[in-house]
Amino acid sequence: MNYSAEPFAGNAAAGGAIDSHTVLYGVIGDPVRHSKSPIMMNRAFRETSVNGVYAAFHIKEDQLAAFAGGVRAMGIRGVNVTIPHKVNIMKYLDEIDPAAAAIGAVNTIVNEDGKLIGYNTDGVGYVRSLKEEAMPSIAGKRVLVIGAGGAARGIVHALAAERPERIVIANRSLGKAEELAGAFANLAELEPIASGGLEEACGQADLVINTTSVGMYPNVDESPVGKGWLKEGAVASDLIYNPLATRFLREAEQLGHTVHGGLGMFIQQGAIAFEHWTGKPAPVQAMRETVLAALNGQRS
Ligand code: ATR
Repeated sequence: MNYSAEPFAGNAAAGGAIDSHTVLYGVIGDPVRHSKSPIMMNRAFRETSVNGVYAAFHIKEDQLAAFAGGVRAMGIRGVNVTIPHKVNIMKYLDEIDPAAAAIGAVNTIVNEDGKLIGYNTDGVGYVRSLKEEAMPSIAGKRVLVIGAGGAARGIVHALAAERPERIVIANRSLGKAEELAGAFANLAELEPIASGGLEEACGQADLVINTTSVGMYPNVDESPVGKGWLKEGAVASDLIYNPLATRFLREAEQLGHTVHGGLGMFIQQGAIAFEHWTGKPAPVQAMRETVLAALNGQRS
């Protein structure tokens, strides 16, 4: 079977038709019904005339092995993996990209003729979005990452490749920050600190990134940092995209900082997955437009 991205034979502008050449894609998670990936990816397929269709699959932990078998049997070309399966899916894949192996998590699977290869596009998606929207170069910059969980791990790995002066990792529990800093000590200058040192670290950073869930809906009145902690000219970045502008970003913007929300990372991690699957550049603007419309409660 040929898994490559075939264009629609019909009129893609009219939405294309699902036919006997249509290639399947999807996202797995538990839960998964909130996911905006299907509308974003189906828009990308329409926009680029790829004859594909992308669905959401609610897969429980004990169904992962069967799912991987199903992907091979059905020739599903590409899968995104979301919470809570990003780590556990790895044992069912045939090959793990070195960056994903270092991060210890996979969010994208590519099916190459029955061989399942795992990638992690979260960190590189974040960096692509940050560079496009807020900070064109990270080289020589002092970065502060708040949080040391799975998301922080992908981001620190990708940021390290951009040659920052140093990356300070601040976490509520110092042990996890130390563990993360230790894991990538060979890639960049990394310094773990406890939350007590956050205010001082904010005052020294050129870029402050919130990777925790503090400020996420419904806790929209929370912020991981105090208003006015950032130094003049620093960029404020938040992985959260619900709300689109967290309290952290709203306050930073009021004080004149450049701000960068989490929507761009979501779009770009999807864009890079799309590129792995189809070999085509992703239609990023159209993808963003579709997700924004959905987040604003409209039909796209
Ligand atoms: P994710 O994959 O989204 O990063 P995670 O791996 O569970 O999720 O990590 C969540 C991160 O947010 C952790 O660094 C966590 O801090 P701890 O390691 O101390 O648990 C941080 N976090 C979550 N809620 C927080 C809160 N209310 N205040 C401060 N940090 C918080």
